[in-house]
Amino acid sequence: MSALRLAGVSHVVGRPLLEGIDLELRAGRMTALSGPSGSGKTTLLSIAGGLLEPTTGTATYAGGPMWLGTGDPRPEVAFVLQVYGLVPILSARENVSVALRARGVEPTEADERAEAALARFSIADLGDRQVEELSGGQMQRVALARGLCVGAEVLLADEPTSELDEGNRGLVLVELRREAERGAVVVVATHDPAVVEACDDHVALDEGRLARVDLGDPRRPEQPAEQTAAQPAEEPAAPRTADVDHALFRRPDDPTGPA
Ligand SMILES: Nc1ncnc2c1ncn2[C@@H]1O[C@H](COP(=O)(O)OP(=O)(O)O)[C@@H](O)[C@H]1O
Ligand SMILES: [Mg+2]
Repeated sequence: MSALRLAGVSHVVGRPLLEGIDLELRAGRMTALSGPSGSGKTTLLSIAGGLLEPTTGTATYAGGPMWLGTGDPRPEVAFVLQVYGLVPILSARENVSVALRARGVEPTEADERAEAALARFSIADLGDRQVEELSGGQMQRVALARGLCVGAEVLLADEPTSELDEGNRGLVLVELRREAERGAVVVVATHDPAVVEACDDHVALDEGRLARVDLGDPRRPEQPAEQTAAQPAEEPAAPRTADVDHALFRRPDDPTGPA
């Protein structure tokens, strides 16, 4: 199992959207990427997944760069996009099946696996419906089915529960956990403290900078201590900026958070 590493990453479009990002996103774990709207979460996921070339620095996985020069992600990567990225005139099943066919799965098998993926998110009954007829929350679950059905080694989900009620959010967290448990790097950008709580690691952004990096999970005492020590020496455990609302993201059992 390999980690996805960002080293010295910045992204400048007129002004810096990301600056000084050194980060290890570990396999087999769920990492929450939190931060206010506009703090750079989508930009960071885009660089991490190879959609976007960083202005400086590198994103690497399994010894190779994520950026391939075209904006196409490596085959190991799957996204659940914030804007879903679904084809409106295709059915829910077709939208999922297309992702499998694009990876060489034969059409009949792709349709069957798409059906099963929709069932993981309790929307098997919507398979024949055109996506443009679906609600936001239903579309979000189709996008999740599509992202999770391919068994990617790196799964990057951008606010995947923003349109969901508590029950469906719980379902999504179970499915993301399943992906981490089979060894994937799972990164979830989120505003939701309950999603942060369900993750193992927590990275917070503020105005394009790392405001917090919490690696290691106090709820998993069997995790070896050196995993925490594996982060780059220059990466501070303490926040760099003073004005982040840490209480919003603090786990109740987190001794580093404010009282
Ligand atoms: N291509 C771009 N050109 C200029 N500004 C951009 C571009 N993409 C994103 N931004 C800006 O960068 C900041 C971070 O955006 P984003 O990564 O989408 O944040 P988040 O996902 O945390 O809401 C925002 O202020 C956004 O308006
Ligand atoms: Mg975003």
